[in-house]
Amino acid sequence: MTFRLCAVIAALLLLTACSVPPKEAQKPLPAEPQGHTETAPDLMDGADGETLAGGCFGCHGFEGRSLGPATPSIAGLSEGYFTAVMEAYRRGDRFSTVMGRILPGYTPDEVRRMAGYFSSREQRPPEQKTDWRLADRGAVLHRRYCEKCHGEAGSDPQDDAGRLAGQWKPYLRWTLKDYLVGVNRAERGMSKKFTQMMRKQGVESLEALVNYYARQR
Ligand code: HEC
Ligand code: HEC
Repeated sequence: MTFRLCAVIAALLLLTACSVPPKEAQKPLPAEPQGHTETAPDLMDGADGETLAGGCFGCHGFEGRSLGPATPSIAGLSEGYFTAVMEAYRRGDRFSTVMGRILPGYTPDEVRRMAGYFSSREQRPPEQKTDWRLADRGAVLHRRYCEKCHGEAGSDPQDDAGRLAGQWKPYLRWTLKDYLVGVNRAERGMSKKFTQMMRKQGVESLEALVNYYARQR
């Protein structure tokens, strides 16, 4: 009996010993290979707008036509607006969730090259479900409060005020709410009209505008 008990204990001890990883596996990992510490030349130095823009397609879609819904389409933005908005992100003057973190990776000159590229891309707005009643109300509101600066239903790329027509609904909704709660500050002229509209038409006017802009193709 005692012998058998001893044998069982011995076998158990042996098993435990075997489950401990061998010494070899506990060795520290080899140090980083040498020769990788010096700074490599910036591979994007001198890259043209198209090459630089490739780094934006992951979020903004091929050639800047976003597959939605929270990322804006940037194809066809005017060069002036594109550059101004990017520099505002860099300075932190325009609220952003991601763009402010991306900008330090690009020089002002690279931004200008990308502006040239994206402004020459075709917009092709997506088809979106819209509420026609709201959209009709939005058309009236747009004419009264926004058209002066956002010409041609907000699709005129020459007015340097951003693209509203055909933009994704969730993006428009969030962007307008950012102005509403003051996370983002509109330029003075817009701020005046926006406040006027809120006072006279109420906060529901925003959803009407969102539907109106999304209906434009
Ligand atoms: C990780 C996703 C992501 C990447 C990568 C990205 N963007 Fe953006 N971009 C956004 C989002 C989201 C917004 C809306 C603002 C915000 O919240 O940052 C935006 C906004 C913008 C706007 C403003 C659009 C408007 O109508 O006002 C421009 C211009 C822009 N991005 C250009 C670029 C360019 C150029 C690149 C490449 C160098 C780039 N973005 C890379 C997500 C991204
Ligand atoms: C006095 C001129 C002016 C008026 C009026 C105006 N805007 Fe703007 N808007 C601008 C300018 C300039 C910009 C771009 C700079 C900025 O972001 O403030 C802009 C930007 C925007 C943007 C951000 C675009 C983007 O892609 O992120 C939205 C949304 C917008 N306006 C909506 C409106 C709405 C809705 C109205 C009407 C209630 C309106 N604006 C009235 C001048 C104006």
